[in-house]
Amino acid sequence: MLKVGIIGVGTVGASVAKILQENADIISARSGKQIIPLIGVVRDISKDRGIDLQLSTNVDDVLENEEIDVVIELMGGVDEAFKVVKKALANGKAVVTANKALLAYHRYELQDIASLSPIGFEASVAGGIPIIKALREGLSANHINSIKGIMNGTCNFILTKMMNEKVEFKTVLEEAQNLGYAEADPTFDVGGFDAAHKLLILASIAYGIDAKPEDILIEGIEEINSEDIYFAKEFGYSIKHLTIAKKKSDDTVELRAHPALIPNSHMIAKVDGVMNGISVVGDRVGETMYYGPGAGGDATASAVIADLIDIARDGQNSPMLGFKKTLEGSGLSLLSPNEIYTKYYIRMKVVDKIGVLAGIANILGNYNISINSFLQKPDTKMKDYATLLFSTHECKEENVQAAMKELEKAEFSVEKPVMIRIED
Ligand code: HSE
Repeated sequence: MLKVGIIGVGTVGASVAKILQENADIISARSGKQIIPLIGVVRDISKDRGIDLQLSTNVDDVLENEEIDVVIELMGGVDEAFKVVKKALANGKAVVTANKALLAYHRYELQDIASLSPIGFEASVAGGIPIIKALREGLSANHINSIKGIMNGTCNFILTKMMNEKVEFKTVLEEAQNLGYAEADPTFDVGGFDAAHKLLILASIAYGIDAKPEDILIEGIEEINSEDIYFAKEFGYSIKHLTIAKKKSDDTVELRAHPALIPNSHMIAKVDGVMNGISVVGDRVGETMYYGPGAGGDATASAVIADLIDIARDGQNSPMLGFKKTLEGSGLSLLSPNEIYTKYYIRMKVVDKIGVLAGIANILGNYNISINSFLQKPDTKMKDYATLLFSTHECKEENVQAAMKELEKAEFSVEKPVMIRIED
C-alpha cells in the first residue's frame, strides 16, 4: 500500500483524490499496490471540494506524518513550495509535483537533495501529455535535434481565435478570462513565462542544460494584432506561441519561447484552441508528435497519478532528470539569445511619403538584413499613414534587435515596430 498526502487541493488536487478512489481497481492492478489519498492540505477548510478526503490547514500533518509515503505538491509558487518539497525529501518521502515554476528555478538543487528518492514531475509540462516519459524513456536512444511545442493553452486559445474570428488580443483575452482559461493576472501565460518554464524542464531532460528563465529568450503574445494575422494568412502561416529547443552543430543549444509564424503545413500549426502539441525530432527516430490537453483537473491529475504508479511499482529509482552523468561528454552549453539566426517578420506603421521604403531598406541593409517578402496596407482611417509588413531572409537576432531600435527612432515611424520570428 502507498499512502499519499496532497498539499493544495484545488481543481487538480481534487481530481487526483477522486481518480485514485474511482479508478482504484485499475490503478492497483497496474501498480501492484493500493494507492490511498490519506490527507489533503488546504487554506480554507470550510470550502466544499466534492471529495471524500480528510483535510487540514497544517502542512506538517502531511510532512511530519509517518504514515505518508508520497507528498503531492500542488500548491504552486516557488519559495514556499521549495521549502515544502525539501522538507518532504528530508523526511524520507517521495515527491510528485506539477509545479513548473519551482522546477524552472530549482530542479538541479532538488535533484541533488533528493539523491535516489523519487521526484515525479510529469504533470509539470503539457498537463496530460506524457512528454517527460517520452523523452526520458521512449526516446532515450536518441540525440534530440529539436523540441518545438505549443505548451500554453491560454496563448493558443487566444491566437486561434484571432486567426479564425478577426478579433483583437484584448477582446479574446477577456473571453479567455471569463471562460476560466486565463488567470485574473494573465501575465504568466500570455507573457510566455509559463511556456518557458516548461521548456527549461524539457531542455534539462533532453540536453542536461542548467539554465534559468532569465537566461533565455522569452516573449509573449500581447503585441500581436490583426495586421500580423493578415500577413500570416497571405503567406500561408499560422501564428503560434512556440517553445523551441534546438541543438546546433557547435554543441550549443538554443532555447526560446516566443510567438512565431509557422507554415500551415506543419502539424504544430494544426494544434488549435486550448490544446497543446509538441514535436520532438530525434537523430534516429526522426520527428515524433505529441498532442493533448495541457491543463484541466482530470488531465493533469492523470499525469500526477502516472508518477504515483511508477513510484508504487519500483520506487522510480532513475535520477530525477533522467540521466546519471552530464550529457554529451563535456556537456552542451546554452547559446546566447543574441546569437540566434532565424527569419523574421516585421510590422511598421509609417508616414506614407516618398523615400520611406528606401529609408527602411537602408537601415535593414546596414544591419545585414535582407528582405524576402513585402506587403503595404494603406490606413483606411488615417490616410497619411501606411502599415508595412515584411519578412526577412535568415539573419542574426542581435542585428534585428539593433535595427528594430533604429526603425523605431526613424522620423517616418509613427508606432513602435513589432517583430515576430518565423520558424520554417
Ligand atoms: N496556464 C497553463 C496554460 C496551464 O494555459 O496552458 C498550466 O500550465
